[in-house]
Amino acid sequence: MPKKPSNRKKHKKEGAGELYSPKVMDYFMNPRNVGEIKNPEGVGVVGNPVCGDIMKMYLKIKNDKVIDAKFQTFGCGAAIATSSMATELIKGKSVEDALKISNRAVTESLEGLPPIKVHCSVLAEEAIKAAIEDYRKKIQIKTAKKSTAKHKK
Ligand code: FES
Repeated sequence: MPKKPSNRKKHKKEGAGELYSPKVMDYFMNPRNVGEIKNPEGVGVVGNPVCGDIMKMYLKIKNDKVIDAKFQTFGCGAAIATSSMATELIKGKSVEDALKISNRAVTESLEGLPPIKVHCSVLAEEAIKAAIEDYRKKIQIKTAKKSTAKHKK
C-alpha cells in the first residue's frame, strides 16, 4: 500500500522551496491551546476567501483580562502555527493589550515566515480582533439589558 505523505513533506511543498523556521515547525507539529472553550466570553471566526482556510478563536475573559485562549484552525501549517502562537501571546494580557498584537508580532515570535505565508499570520490577528469584538458586543448587550431592567422598575 502506498505511504501517505507526511506533514513534513507537505510543509516543504507549501513553502515553495523556502523552509519554515524550527519554531514554526514546532508550533505546527505540536500546536498549543488547540480546542474549544465552553461558555467563552468571546469567539471570533475568520476565513481567508482565497485559500479557504478558517480560524476560530475562543477567549475566556475576566476583569477585562484574557485568562484563557484556544483555537481551532482548518488550514495550512502556517495558519496552525500562527493561531497557536497568537493564543500564547494574548493569554494573561488585558483586552486592550491583546488588541495590539499584530500579525507581525506573531510572525516575529515564530522567528519569521516565508513571504508567501505571511498572509496566514494576518488571519491570526483578525481572529483575536473578532473574538474581542464579540466579547465587547456581549458586554454592551448585557449593559443595555441591565439598564432597561432598571428603567422598568
Ligand atoms: S494558506 Fe490559507 S491561511 Fe495559510
